[in-house]
Amino acid sequence: MKRSLLQRFLRLFPAGMAHSLHLALLRFAGIFPGKWWLRTTLAPRSQKLEREVFGVHFRNPIGIAAGFDPDGDYLDELAALGFGFVEIGSVMPHIQPGTPRPRLKRIKKQNSFIDNSGYPSRGLEYVLSNIRQRTKHTRNLVIGCNIGKCTSTPKRLTSREYLRVFRNMYQYVDYFTINAACNTSAKQYVPRTREELLELVEPLFEFRRGQLDYRPILLKISPDLTYSEIDTAVDILIETPLDGIVAVAGSTELMPEERGAVCGSLLTERAIEVVSYVAEKSEGNYPIIGTGGMMTPKDIRRMFEAGASLVALNSGIRENGFKLLRNAVKELEMINKVGSTN
Ligand SMILES: Cc1cc2nc3c(=O)[nH]c(=O)nc-3n(C[C@H](O)[C@H](O)[C@H](O)COP(=O)(O)O)c2cc1C
Repeated sequence: MKRSLLQRFLRLFPAGMAHSLHLALLRFAGIFPGKWWLRTTLAPRSQKLEREVFGVHFRNPIGIAAGFDPDGDYLDELAALGFGFVEIGSVMPHIQPGTPRPRLKRIKKQNSFIDNSGYPSRGLEYVLSNIRQRTKHTRNLVIGCNIGKCTSTPKRLTSREYLRVFRNMYQYVDYFTINAACNTSAKQYVPRTREELLELVEPLFEFRRGQLDYRPILLKISPDLTYSEIDTAVDILIETPLDGIVAVAGSTELMPEERGAVCGSLLTERAIEVVSYVAEKSEGNYPIIGTGGMMTPKDIRRMFEAGASLVALNSGIRENGFKLLRNAVKELEMINKVGSTN
């Protein structure tokens, strides 16, 4: 995809700084000229891609992946840009500073990043206050909450902390993603066995049973799982009230010499492969959010063709800007081949 002048300028800065600058410019553009300008110049115009997935209505199936706006600071602006959904998080029960900077390394030639962020978070209270102040601009935006493991939390207390964030956020968001691929700090947490995964999700199912409103729960998996480990996740999807899979997080195996998880173009093929495998194993009966290396409209189209119901972007926007959404929507409309709704 041809980069705009702005994107070429942002690439002159270190990756983390470029992202902060990009978001600061977005905030500015949302004030002057204003959100109407974002809507008219950058947002896709089509209404044809609306769909219902896990019982939630999406105005279009392309959204923002976790880690792009972790604390929900830019929901108004992302809504004005026309995204179908934003997954905030990973939300932590308390403030987590993340790994010392620089946390994100750009691999320029490969259009990829190494994410060594350790999931910085301003914590549950801060995110809650942002979400409670949602304005009318986010009315059409689906908001997901990704819950991840605090680096300092001992493993035995992890499921208790996931439950704490889940309970507190329950009435404010539309769906949850349970991050089972927290691999961007030295203390990795990537539960793989049936027991480990059930220990995380069962308390959430139990809490949900007592609620009036239903909130879908999805499990986010690592691209580094073996096929038998992916089978374990799919079995849980089929046998429990789990609502879907988010595939995939960054990979620590694609470049083992680097400290952190590979995201961006280097991840594209593996992400599509995993989504395709999960879709096949679950016979296309369950929703999948495809993410990982979605850098161009063609990548996004291929992800839908592989069986994703929704696609979430992160590195693609960091590298190619917000126009990626509009271009992808155009491509999807043209070929009219978006996977069926679940
Ligand atoms: C800087 C950065 C921070 C991220 N933070 C999170 C996070 O907090 N929780 C999470 O589940 N995934 C996080 N991710 C992973 C993304 O959600 C996504 O799965 C991954 O980046 C692959 O998509 P991509 O190739 O489009 O970037 C992060 C990724 C990046 C680059």
